[in-house]
Amino acid sequence: MKVSTIREKYLAFCKKNGHAIVPSGQIVPENDATTLFTGSGMQPMVPYLLGEKHPEGTRIADAQKCFRAEDIEEVGDNRHTTFFEMLGNWSFGDYTKEDQLRWIFTFLTQEVGINPERLYITCFIGDISSDLPKDEFSANLWKELFSAEGIEAKIADIGSEARGYKRGMNGKERIFYYDGTKNWWSRAGKPDKMPVGEPGGPDSEMFYDFQTQHDTSYGEKCHPNCDCGRFMEIGNNVFMEFIKEADSSFAPLPKKNIDFGGGLERIAAAAIDSPDVYKIDIFDAIIKKLEKLSGKKYDTPEYQFAFRVIADHARGTVFMLSDGIFPSNKDQGYIVRRLMRRAMFYGTQLGLDDKILEKVAPIVIDLHKDAYPRLEEDTALILREVRNEEKKFHKTLERGLRELNKMINMDGELTGEDAFILFTTYGFPLEMTVEVIEKKGIKINHSEYAEEFEKHRKLSRTASEGKFKGGLADHSEKTTALHTATHLMLAGLRKEL
Ligand code: SER
Repeated sequence: MKVSTIREKYLAFCKKNGHAIVPSGQIVPENDATTLFTGSGMQPMVPYLLGEKHPEGTRIADAQKCFRAEDIEEVGDNRHTTFFEMLGNWSFGDYTKEDQLRWIFTFLTQEVGINPERLYITCFIGDISSDLPKDEFSANLWKELFSAEGIEAKIADIGSEARGYKRGMNGKERIFYYDGTKNWWSRAGKPDKMPVGEPGGPDSEMFYDFQTQHDTSYGEKCHPNCDCGRFMEIGNNVFMEFIKEADSSFAPLPKKNIDFGGGLERIAAAAIDSPDVYKIDIFDAIIKKLEKLSGKKYDTPEYQFAFRVIADHARGTVFMLSDGIFPSNKDQGYIVRRLMRRAMFYGTQLGLDDKILEKVAPIVIDLHKDAYPRLEEDTALILREVRNEEKKFHKTLERGLRELNKMINMDGELTGEDAFILFTTYGFPLEMTVEVIEKKGIKINHSEYAEEFEKHRKLSRTASEGKFKGGLADHSEKTTALHTATHLMLAGLRKEL
């Protein structure tokens, strides 16, 4: 089943159940200084989860463009991507968790065709210290849903992370209680990590079982949240009902909300029963093109990493450019530049040092243009930016190599600071530096580089927080009047367009 088919089926299914389908928000969040990028489907919905009225009603669904910059270096294994689409549906104090769980089970098993035998479930075990109850309602409902499919699904307490989940899974157990580290969702993580005013709630997650062998280097026994690769989370039903108070307790939100999010690419991987997410149609098409251009094979272990990085980064690049995020040396622009240059660098690893993004971008556009028509309209712009950056990259490569040779010190080492300068000043990505100097038998101080990088990250974060801070630059009468006028104009545009 194709990604586009799953997206269409999901939105049609939500529509049938009374949801208004809204377009994806931009990758850069609007009026939200918490992150540089939209990292989950619920992010544009925060005001409505907190009680503001949504203009389209109390049942909303969409497919949201998301980007997780913190995962850039994770890309290369069989499941991480930086850019992804999150399918989401929300109830703002409307339907119940029972409705949600029944619907999503039907959607996954009947619409997507996932075998219920392969689904595993987790629920919140409760937290006595914060007076948060165990979610027995969800666990029992799941048991009933499986039972209706002729599957005996036992419920078990899996134990805690602190105890290493030693108990594992036994017999016919299929529904597991975990604590707040796993089955509580807020943008900040588990209950005690939430800042005051942040909404959150217990969740119930769905995992797909690829039935691969457990790898004991991840722990003695396997369980749904084990990272060995047997299970993959494909959806999360959050019961967004609480808000963190100043005294660290939890108060009920004005309404009991539902926030469902499911990774579209992961659902597609489950639908074709492939633990390698890069086998789904959208990535497969990009990879086939790369195979053709390079004459190398994706299934060759030494090239797989490069194929995946290029496929993921090309996709992220196209969506970012279309959203108006252009390569630069700061904030979001810095990330898109990093994506593009990593893709080009890994292109060189496949022997493709010429115009790789320019050749791959049209495929990405073609694969997504039905759901995101803007991409096609922006083709010329995307290709122009990609072309410019590729030219700069080749200049950078020459200049960076010259600088690098000068920087290597008397001990034949490159300091972390210099590696960092190569990146920030000369745009020479760390992986390129490592590659070049390793060939020369020279070492780099990674922890020093990480320190520099962290310093820089904090600085750019501070800068972006200042920049995106809500509210007014000053409170003069003129500024306030212009601010109000802007709100009125935006409201008018929304209504008319
Ligand atoms: N907020 C939840 C998540 O991102 C569900 O949308 O997983």
